[in-house]
Amino acid sequence: MNNTVSEVTLRADGITKSYSSESGLIRVLNHINLELSHGDFITISGPSGCGKSTLLAVLGALQEPDSGTVEYDGISPYRLSAKDRAQFRSKNIGFVFQDFNLVPYLTVRENILCPGIVNSSNDWGTRTAELIESLGLSDRSNHYPDQLSSGEKQRTALARALLVEPTIIFADEPTGNLDQENGQRVLDHLTSYANDGATVMMATHDMDAFNTGNKHLQMDEGSILTLINDNGNN
Ligand SMILES: Nc1ncnc2c1ncn2[C@@H]1O[C@H](COP(=O)(O)OP(=O)(O)OP(=O)(O)O)[C@@H](O)[C@H]1O
Ligand SMILES: [Mg+2]
Repeated sequence: MNNTVSEVTLRADGITKSYSSESGLIRVLNHINLELSHGDFITISGPSGCGKSTLLAVLGALQEPDSGTVEYDGISPYRLSAKDRAQFRSKNIGFVFQDFNLVPYLTVRENILCPGIVNSSNDWGTRTAELIESLGLSDRSNHYPDQLSSGEKQRTALARALLVEPTIIFADEPTGNLDQENGQRVLDHLTSYANDGATVMMATHDMDAFNTGNKHLQMDEGSILTLINDNGNN
């Protein structure tokens, strides 16, 4: 199948998601509708527990919603087989997890190279070296995750997400553990990535980071409170 997205528009319609708990179902996403185009850099903020990470996971084809649809330029990842969905994700989606999800027994360099395994026809060495350099990880490339600071883990996770130049990047609080200089470096990377035509979606508690990008979404209790588009359209 040809599952490479060319003109991405990410469209989410009526997304709901609940988790079960001892006290019953907890509704985490409540009828979310959203549409993103090529070059959009959307930032998301809202109180802890309001559903930001869950929204990223649902839109990023990692967690199926209870109802509603997610569509990438006409392709619905949740209608694909598990194998095709994994292939679709590896080609089109980069994900920076809030808790990094680095592979503990691989070095920084090897972690960054991981997404390249599915496309082994490319030599990813040069791109990996560029990312290591530009994210300030040169002195740490042969270290293992348990030898890294949180900020170094976070930058490794970003480099891994950027390796195959996916069409859309989901970044869950990617500046949460960084000093100002490294935080700005991460935001600059994401901004230039969107300027090159990719779509970026970032959850953050940091107001400076929230004001980056061209669309700004405020969530509360699983719903969209406001969606501001810097072009003036809501
Ligand atoms: N696997 C799960 N099982 C049960 N409840 C869950 C699960 N994952 C998340 N939740 C609950 O869903 C709600 C939303 O969680 P989510 O991680 O999306 O919030 P968040 O907005 O990203 O918060 P934070 O800013 O702290 O990262 C929370 O109340 C959380 O406890
Ligand atoms: Mg979160």
